Amino acid sequence: MIEENLDGAFKKIAELVNNRIDLLLPKNEQFTESKLIEAMRYSALSPGKRIRPFLTVAAAAIFKIDPEDSIDIATAIEFIHVYSLIHDDLPAMDDDDYRRGQPSCHKKFNEATAILAGDSLLTYAFQILSDPQTNPDPHIRCELINIISKSIGFNGMAGGQMMDLESTGDKSLTPEIIARLHRLKTGEMFMASVEAGAIIGKTQPVMRQHLVRYAHDIGLAFQIKDDILDHTGQSTQKIGIDQFEHKRTQDETSIVNILGMTKAKEQLELLHDQAVLHLKPFGSKANLLKQLAEFIVIRDR
Ligand code: IPE
Ligand code: IPE
Ligand code: MG
Ligand code: MG
Repeated sequence: MIEENLDGAFKKIAELVNNRIDLLLPKNEQFTESKLIEAMRYSALSPGKRIRPFLTVAAAAIFKIDPEDSIDIATAIEFIHVYSLIHDDLPAMDDDDYRRGQPSCHKKFNEATAILAGDSLLTYAFQILSDPQTNPDPHIRCELINIISKSIGFNGMAGGQMMDLESTGDKSLTPEIIARLHRLKTGEMFMASVEAGAIIGKTQPVMRQHLVRYAHDIGLAFQIKDDILDHTGQSTQKIGIDQFEHKRTQDETSIVNILGMTKAKEQLELLHDQAVLHLKPFGSKANLLKQLAEFIVIRDR
């Protein structure tokens, strides 16, 4: 079972995810295509916070699912997240040279390799999700694939990315449009990560809904906090000072730019409190998810 304290659980889950990534992407230097695996490993093993895998494992743990039985699903979700980051950094998108404190995939390798590494991480995730060794129940596997694929396509992350690209230079964005953009871009995957835990745990639809609502609120809170960190300069470690200044002044989708810092902070607190309320029916079993909501508000990276 998983530890009750957030730091311990974060460490434990990150360690489990890293071990799974290492095993699922074995080094193999003898083939011509081995550079592709090297690029996948490079990005997947780089130091991410592993929040999405945490959500899956912690949500499943509410229903007494051992981390060993949710970790492959959590790792598949992290693979999808890493794919989205590799493609997001490409010159055709955000053109970022750094990711997670190291050169982005296309800088370390080249653009074509980065595109293929992203493609391969995305498809590999679904290979893992559909594998009977991941979960013996075909209904569970199918439901996971359904929920996760919905959350990352045109009605989810990719749609949000499109909105994000289209909104550059658009000064007429309303708070509603921006909230939708962030729900699609970031929130849907947060919701799918938590819902995956509920699916593995075979819980009732009502209880599942409570968890999805929790994830909805922390997803938006996460994005607001990201924008607050950008505005207070704390994101410079991850992107470098020049790019940071460029990003901050250009960002029309920043919630802080639209609402102002005070209102953004109020909104963050409100979403936190609302998220915690959705966990009430689970009592102390949802302690880890509750602590995660707190972490999102106070995090400095
Ligand atoms: C970064 O997500 C991209 C967004 C959706 C804002 P994270 O902040 O979870 O990134 P890592 O995984 O820790 O690098
Ligand atoms: C990251 O989004 C990628 C996805 C959410 C798919 P952003 O472009 O907003 O975030 P950073 O600043 O590159 O991490
Ligand atoms: Mg982007
Ligand atoms: Mg980006």
